Amino acid sequence: MPQTTSSTPPEHVAIIMDGNGRWAQQRGLPRIEGHRRGVETVRAVTDAGRELGLRTLTLYAFSVENWNRPQDEVGALMGLLEYYLKKELNTFIKNRIRLRTIGRTNELPAGVQKHLDHTIEATKAFTDYTLVLALNYGSRTEIVDAAKAYAQAVAAGEIAADDTSWGTFNRFLYTAGLPDPDLIIRTSGEERLSNFLLMQGAYAELVFTPVLWPDFNKEHLATAIAEYGRRERRFGKTSAQVQAPVPTS
Ligand code: FPP
Repeated sequence: MPQTTSSTPPEHVAIIMDGNGRWAQQRGLPRIEGHRRGVETVRAVTDAGRELGLRTLTLYAFSVENWNRPQDEVGALMGLLEYYLKKELNTFIKNRIRLRTIGRTNELPAGVQKHLDHTIEATKAFTDYTLVLALNYGSRTEIVDAAKAYAQAVAAGEIAADDTSWGTFNRFLYTAGLPDPDLIIRTSGEERLSNFLLMQGAYAELVFTPVLWPDFNKEHLATAIAEYGRRERRFGKTSAQVQAPVPTS
């Protein structure tokens, strides 16, 4: 078989968890019930990702734009997040899951920040599997924050002003030290990226599934990974180049 880059399984999968509200609406339930079920899915999919061999799983849990939702929904989401962090700490430790965040987490409620800091500290030594929660995240905000930090580093003489390489700049993104996502999945049938990992996903494969987030499970994740395996990742090269047999020596 010719070797292509997509024959290797994805290391980093990122998911836009969408459809909680519709899941609840379809059942005549309040939207928050959909989010509550969505948290159960977060737990199950975190386990599934590890079982399917991922090294990094990033979940888009709250965007900078989500503050514009009705106040009671925002409050309920923050409450759920705090509850989840409290409840999952022992599982993170037992299953050796490192927690990281991306986004302006300093603008989250103090209680959420406290549990985030505690969990991140308690799990920082784990290296096999990382769960990244995108919280108060947006790619445009990320670029603005990175540009500011970059400009400060140039002004401080830490970076040469004529160093225009991506490799230097991307160290200022929230995702510094994390690999780029190989695969981005969006649930609920919507087909857009909604300000999520726009830079890091430059070469990611995209898979859209009609399944609503509360119904998403290990099998759906495995199906998306199988779809990824059928893609040819070319990174700007030609198909012939990436299919060239790897010399065996
Ligand atoms: C999108 O569904 C989902 C969100 C905006 C929030 C995602 C949050 C969770 C899954 C729960 C909290 C997360 C953690 C990590 C504890 P939607 O409400 O936009 O659905 P709709 O498009 O059907 O209305």
